[in-house]
Amino acid sequence: MISEEVIQKIKDLNDIVDIVSEKVKLKKAGHNYIGLCPFHNEKTPSFSVSQDKQIYKCFGCGESGNVITFIMKTKNLPFVEAVNFLAEKVNISVELNQGNDKKNYEQNNKLYKINVEAARYFFNNLNQDRKAKQYFLSRKITEATMRSFGLGYAKDDWNNLLHYMKNKGYTELDLINAGLIIQKNNTFYDRFRNRVIFPVFDYRGRVIGFGGRVLDDSKPKYLNSPETAVFKKGINLYGLNFSLKNNIDRFFIIVEGYMDCITLHQYGIKNAVASLGTALTKNQAKLLKRYADKIIISYDADSAGQTATLRGLKILKEVGFEVSIIKIPDGKDPDEFVKKNGREAFIELIKNALPVVDYRLNKAFEEVNLKDNESIIRYIRNVSEIIEELDPVEKDVYIKRISEKTGTSEQAIYDLLSEKVQKSGNQIQTMNKMDGYGQNLYVESAYIKSERALLKIMAQNRNMCEYIMARLKCEDLIIDSHKKIYNNIISVIEDQVANSENILKKIEIMCNEKESYSEWIKVISEDIIFSDGNEKKLIDDFIFNIKKFNLEESKKEIMKKIKILGEKGLFEETLELIKQSEELQNKLNNL
Ligand code: UTP
Ligand code: MN
Repeated sequence: MISEEVIQKIKDLNDIVDIVSEKVKLKKAGHNYIGLCPFHNEKTPSFSVSQDKQIYKCFGCGESGNVITFIMKTKNLPFVEAVNFLAEKVNISVELNQGNDKKNYEQNNKLYKINVEAARYFFNNLNQDRKAKQYFLSRKITEATMRSFGLGYAKDDWNNLLHYMKNKGYTELDLINAGLIIQKNNTFYDRFRNRVIFPVFDYRGRVIGFGGRVLDDSKPKYLNSPETAVFKKGINLYGLNFSLKNNIDRFFIIVEGYMDCITLHQYGIKNAVASLGTALTKNQAKLLKRYADKIIISYDADSAGQTATLRGLKILKEVGFEVSIIKIPDGKDPDEFVKKNGREAFIELIKNALPVVDYRLNKAFEEVNLKDNESIIRYIRNVSEIIEELDPVEKDVYIKRISEKTGTSEQAIYDLLSEKVQKSGNQIQTMNKMDGYGQNLYVESAYIKSERALLKIMAQNRNMCEYIMARLKCEDLIIDSHKKIYNNIISVIEDQVANSENILKKIEIMCNEKESYSEWIKVISEDIIFSDGNEKKLIDDFIFNIKKFNLEESKKEIMKKIKILGEKGLFEETLELIKQSEELQNKLNNL
């Protein structure tokens, strides 16, 4: 027998819409999805799938069920095999060993019980400790909110909770398993001391862990439960159990902290959930996707996790969310903002939330000086990275907009984009693949070969490496992955006294993502023909190729701008550019 717990987990992780979609083409219709029923013959769709409820129902033939019955019926599998099939899909191992499984189930059940008991205890402490209650009140948290979120307090003592729980019949080991106490040598003490407590619930409302905050400015500000059998990071979202009861509009607001989430709920914004300062994971995104189609992110403007935020945005987009971003004025967090300005003001921010792309483009635009051509060019280069990721229709819309804002022609922006594709090497690969005659029709540009050759020489010859470093800086390189390899080589060579084989291996390990790794392979397979004493001459030639390409590109760019301004009759404005292009030509001549 497979435990209820494991089955629940398998159901949680296998979204019904994903599973049914593998067999039936589904279309969104209101809150549900509809398609042609796989269980009877029909021409108009009467098969409906509910993501909220994780069930399907056919209004034609009456079939209905959940993910497991769907697999049983469509694949003609018995229950256990259907469960196994779904378990494999999400990398869960189904222990068929009944004893073990039952034990796990019972152990987890015990953890939930311990957690609820501890949460109650912390909650009761709050009424006994003026200071703790005052802390929440001073942050404008009402008593009703304290109750509904089960907020509490861990006393300023080393084994208060420990004694209490032991009296209730739990052992030290139980409490360690629950993450509530810590063992050092042969003594045990409470993990949370003199902290206000935030119980963390899973989406079904079970207490799975705790966060504890100091009452002053000391560090660390928050302590959280460690991972336990029931508290797993990256799966849950704080506040989701409360949001699910009220989420009629099918969107969530994701905030960073406990306090942000709680305060928004108190102010009636009941679809807030908190990521608790960690980067969003795919599991979290999938969990949310069941209940919503739209996400609004409201993080600290200058939060340390800017890149983490971007990664999170990508994940949300991947699972199909429409994502917008709220910018809170004056760098405040949602908690402070809503307390100061009220619910209506926050709802206004929600209404004005910007789609991610607009948000990023606006942000980049804030730094542009429209009177400075260099600044405009830099802006377009920056935003082209954002635009590259879009589909053709979106691209068109945004390129139009950027063109209007900057007075640059749409064509010039398109040209820049296609150049970038070439530089990143993608196009080179596809062109090579397209050749059907076993012959390379596409000759790689001199600069690419030169960059590879130089990198290979750097990695193999310490003296020459210094010679090259003195003449060619990282930023002179054109291909991004080459820049990474350049830096990797330098960092390995600098702290390495070992033999050359060792060096190559170390560099290879540092090229740890797909692009730089595949370029690294090309670098080391580059054939370089040295004849005695000509090394430096050869290196100079390679460097020449790269610098020439760079200068020519910059010049092309400027000529394009001159042409566009010329077409508009803005000849005055071209003067400075003409001067720049002449300077570039001089540099080219002097190379
Ligand atoms: P914040 O510092 O934004 O916390 O960190 P906050 O919720 O706004 O707290 P207040 O308003 O100062 O009370 C966001 C989240 O990051 C996690 C917590 O989950 C916090 O809610 N965090 C932060 C930690 O886990 N540990 C820390 O030391 C700090
Ligand atoms: Mn805060």
